Amino acid sequence: MSEPPSPKNIVCLISGRGSNLEAILRAAREENWADIADAHIAAVVSNRPAVGGLAIARDYGVPTRVLDHTGYSSREAFDADLGAAIDAFDPALVILAGFLRVLTPAFVARYAGRLINIHPSLLPAFPGLATHRRAIEAGVRVHGATVHFVTGELDAGPIIGQAALAVDPADTEESLAARVLAMEHALLPRCVRWLLTGAVRLENGRVAVRGLSRQELLRCEP
Ligand code: GRF
Repeated sequence: MSEPPSPKNIVCLISGRGSNLEAILRAAREENWADIADAHIAAVVSNRPAVGGLAIARDYGVPTRVLDHTGYSSREAFDADLGAAIDAFDPALVILAGFLRVLTPAFVARYAGRLINIHPSLLPAFPGLATHRRAIEAGVRVHGATVHFVTGELDAGPIIGQAALAVDPADTEESLAARVLAMEHALLPRCVRWLLTGAVRLENGRVAVRGLSRQELLRCEP
């Protein structure tokens, strides 16, 4: 008799308020990811204590772990403990859902192909910080968010999904950030669902898409 397929455990890493985490938790519940893909949010790990995202995880009954990076003398030591905390949950997928720390090459290699990130710009434009201010300063007409596989290069890696919006001449950094964040909350769960169902997969370092309509793949509104 063949083994039953193992459940797909998901571990989310956060650093702060956790609004993207909440979007994932809500989608997992409302869309019933346990039934459609045998997927569960197994744990939430934060590198900062007492952040809003931890309270959100607890509200959803998800186990939490805190690894305060300020208690470590090197990135390598922190990432080794972070990896051990994550591996305790045997994850099929690790989501950087607002995890604001650069990861070591060893960590990235350990989770190659099952580590994804959400970044608040249309990559490869504006990797790094202050993306909305830089977008306004650059005068771009289109801005947005990207979900991608994590590679050794910061805010790079094969793109799973993007959502774009028009920059209004009246936009401020704050108004743009708020509108992009609302898009992130739809984009990230959608991309996770694509991965869980196999609609999107990594093949030879490139993202392959199957069974998704053009409309679904390129959707921008929630
Ligand atoms: C989001 O803008 C995300 O794209 C970026 O960090 C922010 C996290 O926000 N990586 P939240 O903690 O999910 O509310």
